[in-house]
Amino acid sequence: MHNHARVPVGVLGASGYVGQELLRLLAGHPGASVAFATAETAAGETVEGQRLIKTDDAQVARAELVFSCLPHGVSGRYVNDVRAAGVRAVDLSADFRLSAEAVYGLTEFARPRVATAELVANPGCYPTAALLALIPLAKRGLIDPGREVVIDAASGVTGAGRNARRELLFGEVAEDYRAYAAGNTHRHLPEVRAGLAREGGFSGDLVFTPHLLPVKRGILETIHVPLTRALDQGAAEALYEEAYAGEPCVLITRGALPSLKDVVYRNRVAIGVVPVSGVQRPRLTVIAAIDNLVKGAAGQAVQNMNVMLGFPETAGLAC
Ligand SMILES: NC(=O)c1ccc[n+]([C@@H]2O[C@H](COP(=O)([O-])OP(=O)(O)OC[C@H]3O[C@@H](n4cnc5c(N)ncnc54)[C@H](OP(=O)(O)O)[C@@H]3O)[C@@H](O)[C@H]2O)c1
Repeated sequence: MHNHARVPVGVLGASGYVGQELLRLLAGHPGASVAFATAETAAGETVEGQRLIKTDDAQVARAELVFSCLPHGVSGRYVNDVRAAGVRAVDLSADFRLSAEAVYGLTEFARPRVATAELVANPGCYPTAALLALIPLAKRGLIDPGREVVIDAASGVTGAGRNARRELLFGEVAEDYRAYAAGNTHRHLPEVRAGLAREGGFSGDLVFTPHLLPVKRGILETIHVPLTRALDQGAAEALYEEAYAGEPCVLITRGALPSLKDVVYRNRVAIGVVPVSGVQRPRLTVIAAIDNLVKGAAGQAVQNMNVMLGFPETAGLAC
């Protein structure tokens, strides 16, 4: 535990939506201080009081831990440089999420490994909600491997990053709602499959369809789960409450279904469950909501940093 001097940390890609959120959280953290924050085209601008430098100019050895909020495909190279300098890293891109080189940082299920990790791959936003919703059922052998788990997910537009793209203009997105990457083509699906197999021992079929929701932030996933045996409302809620007993960043919305307002600006997943009536084989609807920029990215990264550096797990976070 670092009681006196603040621990210097660096942020690569601090001008993006995730990087900005991370600087905001670090500004309120009791034990960390920002040693440097970087950008590419936005170098020279100031975010949360930090003047952004070029990523190539960062002196990574000045930090005890470096976060990378760079795009996937770009991040891996810089993270390898950080590791080569002997500095611990939390990568928020997808570059190491399926790699044995990194600890997959779904904090609730990875604490001991995160605590000693040199490199943490912070989970993706859609996978964070899906895995926290499904692992408790998978672990107990309650998901029928002979039928598909259907995940219908919707994300606010910050999920697509801050780069200018025509299909993300206000005029294209506002008052509309659409699916994309249908037919199991989204790049997050292998990550959900890998996490469910590793943590829940489940490797049955998943059908994942993301949607673009015209709000700034938030993800809500409606997950249709085929069960091996029926669960009534009380049993389903009790199962989740037991699975997440004492977890500061998980809220089970007993007797109600979660919505985005339960989670925005918080490092929290909210999970609600309801048995499906009028069907021949047992089925549970699980609804999970997170803020894509907080529990789905920067907040979970700070949660992992807290575990790595020995701070209280929720230091600097509103759960
Ligand atoms: N958005 C989400 O909800 C979310 C959730 C979980 C994980 N992630 C992951 O987190 C990472 C950041 O996402 P984001 O949404 O914040 O993206 P973003 O808004 O597009 O930000 C990307 C950041 O990387 C910098 N950058 C872009 N190209 C670069 C290059 N070639 N070399 C060096 N720096 C470069 C940008 O700098 P300039 O601004 O100067 O161009 C910016 O700081 C991505 O890997 C993403 O997959 C995002």
